[in-house]
Amino acid sequence: MDIIKSLEWRYATKKFDASKKLTATQLETLKKAFNLTATSYGLQPIRLVIVTNQALKESLVEHSFNQRQVADASHLLVICIQEEITKKDINDNFNQQLEDRKIEEESIAGFRSFLLDTFGKMSTEKHQDIGKLNAYIALGNLLTVCAVEKIDACPMEGFIPAKYDEVLNLKKHQLKSVLVLPVGFRDESDFMGNMVKVRKTVNQITLTID
Ligand SMILES: Cc1cc2nc3c(=O)[nH]c(=O)nc-3n(C[C@H](O)[C@H](O)[C@H](O)COP(=O)(O)O)c2cc1C
Repeated sequence: MDIIKSLEWRYATKKFDASKKLTATQLETLKKAFNLTATSYGLQPIRLVIVTNQALKESLVEHSFNQRQVADASHLLVICIQEEITKKDINDNFNQQLEDRKIEEESIAGFRSFLLDTFGKMSTEKHQDIGKLNAYIALGNLLTVCAVEKIDACPMEGFIPAKYDEVLNLKKHQLKSVLVLPVGFRDESDFMGNMVKVRKTVNQITLTID
């Protein structure tokens, strides 16, 4: 199927068929796609939390403005950010570059000290802002991969992050929830399933400057 057909096929699914579950392979594909997401300086200050426990999913409905998708989807993906980007995070990344790419410290030393200095001067809020931007990139990436893999999904900002953090005990992992992405398979009775896509024309949304 060509990519545009896949993107036309996908929609923000309102009603999932709770009896249909992702296969282990499909879940693995989404995990790998998340890990392959481009991030600022490659620091990956994001984490994918996967909720499968049904009682836990049910308990999150009330913190999601009663949107049932979070309970009825096969898996509830919660895209989280690190509370902060630490010196250790930066050093771990550069050390991994040395190991994985078999390169010498001198080839990256300048960039390493630049990042340590830059992030060291930033506020925790700024670290989290960068994390959030990266979380949205991961969301877009996952939505496209879901479309290609014929997995239904609903991107969601409609939830209360503080409540999710509490229920999922995210503080323990120094994480904060930013976006929610229930994934699974559409229920054939979903009223949105057959709705025509509402979009600007390509000419309206693009501007070519020659
Ligand atoms: C960041 C973001 C947050 C969204 N939050 C919600 C949400 O909480 N609940 C919901 O049903 N749809 C949500 N949507 C879905 C959009 O309403 C939907 O993508 C848009 O109307 C376009 O429709 P389509 O995705 O079906 O083509 C969200 C979409 C994005 C990108």
